[in-house]
Amino acid sequence: MKKQITDQLITEDHQYVAQAGRVNTLDLVVDHGDGAQIWDVDGNQYVDLLASAASVNVGHNNSEVQKAIQEQSQNLIHYISGYFYNEPAIKLAKRLSELAPGNTPKKVSFSTSGSEAAEAIVKFARAYTKRPYIITFSNSWHGTTMGAASLSAIDPNMHRNIGPLVGDVIHIPYPDSIHNYDDAEGTQSFEFLQELVKHDIPADQIAAVIIEPIQGDAGIIKAPIEYMNKLYQFCHTNGILFCTDEINQGFGRSGKMWSLDHFNLEPDIMAVGKALGSGMPLSAVIGKAPIMDSLQAPANATTTAANPICCAAALATIDYVESHNLPERSGELGEYVKAIIEPWRSEFESIIDIRMVGLNGGIELNSDELAHKVSQYVFEHGVIMITTMGNILRFQPPLVISKDDLTQALNTVHDAFTNLK
Ligand SMILES: Cc1ncc(COP(=O)(O)O)c(C=O)c1O
Repeated sequence: MKKQITDQLITEDHQYVAQAGRVNTLDLVVDHGDGAQIWDVDGNQYVDLLASAASVNVGHNNSEVQKAIQEQSQNLIHYISGYFYNEPAIKLAKRLSELAPGNTPKKVSFSTSGSEAAEAIVKFARAYTKRPYIITFSNSWHGTTMGAASLSAIDPNMHRNIGPLVGDVIHIPYPDSIHNYDDAEGTQSFEFLQELVKHDIPADQIAAVIIEPIQGDAGIIKAPIEYMNKLYQFCHTNGILFCTDEINQGFGRSGKMWSLDHFNLEPDIMAVGKALGSGMPLSAVIGKAPIMDSLQAPANATTTAANPICCAAALATIDYVESHNLPERSGELGEYVKAIIEPWRSEFESIIDIRMVGLNGGIELNSDELAHKVSQYVFEHGVIMITTMGNILRFQPPLVISKDDLTQALNTVHDAFTNLK
């Protein structure tokens, strides 16, 4: 595999770009993309099973999104949305309020990254409830800005040497029956919460619970429905806002438009990002209108929020997701993939679990080292599949991927297991 330009650029990157921003280790300098394919700067082609971390659900260089970006950029690149209105942002706010689960009227507040949206939940929830505490979960990834890092509990490097973190954030165990922390209904995790409010943090001091209904970076862990129902009841009984993070799982990733749609619940506030703008820097919180009216400007204004090009890209993305039934496609292709890879459990004893919810999966291995080797092997054979949590292979291709590309990529992953076992 030719890697000359790649090697030169990566050497320069290591000299000039701080390592704090780079999570993974494949030597890939992305040059261009099309659908579920990407090419590096040396012309090598790959099937992308990562979709830029679930941010290009509609595929790389989607022509509808490109057109929207081009047209909007001819009109206006940016005007600060805190001072004046722009039409794409207003249209998008309306669209998102209607698209969010539940019928309660909603309002939207825009930012540029998922991290900002996650921490905006804290601001709106504290302002509305006038309470300090925020509950989040073990192995959650809500982002890396100061507030979002404080909410997250997946990697100590997010917290190391940057404290003190934002206060009054409590991490409780995620209802994870797969890793035997809990039973299939999340009973122990719920009991933990009950103990917490009984002996430590008064429920009437808790502003919000923020949950990923399906944890993404943790390796696609879906909360039990019984747990989610109990948590929802607990929140509403105690005046606590029930808030969800859909930044990783939204826009069809899990086989439904929202991961919360698996549970038929309505969030008080939800955060979206990533696939919202097909990777353009755009995120939003969508919340029940009275909650979203609880902060006064400029509490959640930033100069580049609701950039019209990003909003136009988001409108085109949502059109595409809906008109091509991508949530359904994600669900169907997820089943197709499951049928291919489930038998691998008995074939390779290094595989300890396989999870798939839509085109959204984790293949969990018994060692970090093997997971890394599989990732490296498939990379050298034209497939992008990174690891998460050390020992889990992360499977989140663009939702437009063809069956042929999927089959070919899975054959390569199978070859990796065969050659490395
Ligand atoms: C569930 C979830 N929330 C928030 C974020 C943070 O988003 P961003 O990286 O755009 O700040 C991520 C990023 O991976 C995520 O997966």
